[in-house]
Amino acid sequence: MRFKTFLPVCLLALAFCCPAALAKEAAGITAGDAVLIVAFGTSVEKARISYQNVEEQVKAAFPGSDIRWAWTAHSLLHTAPGGTPMLSPQEALAKLATDGVKDLSVLSLHIIPGAEYSALEKIVAAFEGLPKGLETIRLSPPLLNDTESSRAVAEVLLKTLPKERKAEDAVLFVGHGTHHPAGVFYPALAYYLGSLDPKAFVGTVEGDLDLERLLPALKAGNVKKIWLTPLMTVAGDHAMNDLFGNDPDSWKAQLTAAGFTVAAVNRGLGENPALVARWVQGLCKAAPPAKHE
Ligand code: CO
Repeated sequence: MRFKTFLPVCLLALAFCCPAALAKEAAGITAGDAVLIVAFGTSVEKARISYQNVEEQVKAAFPGSDIRWAWTAHSLLHTAPGGTPMLSPQEALAKLATDGVKDLSVLSLHIIPGAEYSALEKIVAAFEGLPKGLETIRLSPPLLNDTESSRAVAEVLLKTLPKERKAEDAVLFVGHGTHHPAGVFYPALAYYLGSLDPKAFVGTVEGDLDLERLLPALKAGNVKKIWLTPLMTVAGDHAMNDLFGNDPDSWKAQLTAAGFTVAAVNRGLGENPALVARWVQGLCKAAPPAKHE
């Protein structure tokens, strides 16, 4: 368990968890030859600021590493700016292997261990240890992956709200949602948020926590103003249309029609440096790669 020696050093470094130089000194570990950042992808150009922020933190945490990207949404691969298509994880992993990379760190920008994350786990496992290929691959966990991470993310979310938000205002974090069993992380987060701030709520665009379910609690709380913000890595299509769109079905329109004043905080979680740091630290803490003899 060579990673164990490294872990305390890793935890001590606050903003940047795995500086390669520090890692080398500590236990002969580096981020590997390369870091592959994996995101869902987005067709909304201004939403990519989240991805730029992530890349900057990864560069600082793993100086000198070859940093690459993959998007899991195949339908979005050709919407990237500049006309150069993005690579799917399969394509990116194959290319890394062909380019001679042996030891790879994969940074997942997923929020819950749902269907997208579990697909990525399978893809990564399939590429590990192939002849002439990647010998070791470590994969970071999603942002919410256990009790501790759910509690810590709740704290960060509340600490990084706009300072204009008053205690009597509600805050509504809206995630993507899923029918996968990992959808339980949304009510788990809602629990930890609510235990710190009784006016903090979690909803989802798809799945269980829809507006119909949330409205009675918002009304019972005597709330007048709601700060509405995505609980998504990027403020992309869902934020633009489902949350803040002009359509009467959007969350903003429905909340306004229900008598609330809505303040839009239209930013992705990737625009929050403290949350990006948690994703990056997750890679640092990821289980040591299996050794292929
Ligand atoms: Co979607």
